Amino acid sequence: MPHPLEDLRDAALSDINTASDEQTLESARVRYLGRSGSISAWSEQMKTLSKEERPIVGKLLNQARTAVTAALEESGERLRAEKESRALQDIDISLPGTPAELGALHPLTQMLDRAVAIFRRMGFAVAEGPDVDTEWYCFDALNTAPDHPARNEQDTFYLPDGRLLRTHTSTVQIRTMQSAPPPIRVIAPGAAYRRDEVDATHSAQFHQIEGLYVDKNVSIADLKGTLEFFLRELLGADTEVRFRPHFFPFTEPSFEIDVKSKALKRGEKWLELAGCGMVHPAVFEQVNSARGDNAYDPEKYTGFAFGLGMDRLAMILFDIPDIRLFAQNDLRFLRQFA
Ligand code: PHE
Repeated sequence: MPHPLEDLRDAALSDINTASDEQTLESARVRYLGRSGSISAWSEQMKTLSKEERPIVGKLLNQARTAVTAALEESGERLRAEKESRALQDIDISLPGTPAELGALHPLTQMLDRAVAIFRRMGFAVAEGPDVDTEWYCFDALNTAPDHPARNEQDTFYLPDGRLLRTHTSTVQIRTMQSAPPPIRVIAPGAAYRRDEVDATHSAQFHQIEGLYVDKNVSIADLKGTLEFFLRELLGADTEVRFRPHFFPFTEPSFEIDVKSKALKRGEKWLELAGCGMVHPAVFEQVNSARGDNAYDPEKYTGFAFGLGMDRLAMILFDIPDIRLFAQNDLRFLRQFA
């Protein structure tokens, strides 16, 4: 005759194996193995048993516990698997998923990133300034007198409060020198604005990388070396670079830079890319009086500055025929650079 513990074990196993959901299984566990479950009750009874009976019942108790625990686990797994496959029955895994739309960098941003990376290798840090700025930063501090023709030429967007959309990134030269003494070696990538007649090559908003290098003994040789290196890194080692004398109020002497390169799809024409020159002593004087010191003593320090037009560079590098495409947000255009 089986021991009552064996009957209990068999009853438990049968309840567990026929349980059709997790709730039924859990109540079977409580019934047999819970704190006041019927199998647990036997361990309470152990102390009332005789010396001879105790090892026999102890063994049976262990076996029952082990068997029931294993069955609980097995049934639990079976029920979970059944539940999962029921859930999956309602899903058609052969249907196409919802694709995640991946963004990409704007071609101008890609162009700026490439240029910035080259200057960083030469030790230039990135500086920033606001797009809306004062006349002082845009003109006065840059040695451009109120009646200076360059001020009219630049046909500026003025705000009602007298501030303006910066006509060039040269404003950041002044802000940088105001905030730190020499030596200075920065580039400032950013937008600039002019009231140009908009057509395929002119936009009211365009992009420049400004550069400024101030230290003792900076010469035109440094200016040429830096910009030639940059342009050859960007456009290829066989790029020809030409410095043409020009005029800017804030540099003296001043130059415009033209390049000729096989990387540029527009053939063998010289292309005007940048303005540059040696920082005018009057600019240092303006900075000094704003700083209230003589940190940029023109007797001790010299520097060069440049402003590179990024839109034209991106247009010739990527063979883009119309500058307006940059701002029209047409995905058919933008996707080509993704
Ligand atoms: N700011 C000038 C422009 O926008 C370019 C320039 C920058 C020239 C720095 C000289 C030095 O045309």
